Amino acid sequence: DYKLIILFLAAYLIGSIPTALIIGQSFYHKDVRQYGSGNIGTTNAYRVLGPRAGTVVLVLDVLKGALAASLPLWCGYSDRHLILLIGLGAVLGHSFSIYIRFHGGKSVATSAGILLAYNPEFFLIAAAIFLLIVTVSSMVSVASTLGCILVLLLSYFYHDWVLSLIIAAVTVFVLIRHRSNFRRIFNGTENLVPFGLVYRL
Ligand code: G3P
Repeated sequence: DYKLIILFLAAYLIGSIPTALIIGQSFYHKDVRQYGSGNIGTTNAYRVLGPRAGTVVLVLDVLKGALAASLPLWCGYSDRHLILLIGLGAVLGHSFSIYIRFHGGKSVATSAGILLAYNPEFFLIAAAIFLLIVTVSSMVSVASTLGCILVLLLSYFYHDWVLSLIIAAVTVFVLIRHRSNFRRIFNGTENLVPFGLVYRL
């Protein structure tokens, strides 16, 4: 179906919008790629630009995923699994953005947006798991990666193999995107968030 290919490309273009970069450059005259972890994502926006900008980037990146994933519904498709498939376009866009020479972030917030569009209840559970792990580990990267794995395991209880398959694919992708974080974790140099338990120990 050529229409689905167009929707996938549209999702890719929406996902490609580098929100952290735009907000940093427009309002703070800072290129987030040159500070902190250098990542173009929510975490580094919090770290480099502060909580207000970080929250805006978080909301925009989640909405980006949710909006892109919802495209098939708005175009009259009734198969809800298309939300997951088209949403992947936004994940690819966020990490390999056409606007910044195919660079980009780690796609955790954008992927969460797909889940928000597909199953808001599961999204809230995933968000709670994420917050719990950040609060204990003090490392967003641990919450992102371990969170994905736990969400994948939990998806089993929804008896929806397409959902589990897509989460599995996203989990592998997110783990690969966190290679530099794993190196820092093993070196003991990973960035810690100041409210975490490990940070305070
Ligand atoms: O979602 C990205 C997060 O898990 C890690 O971000 O900037 O610490 O590499 P960062």
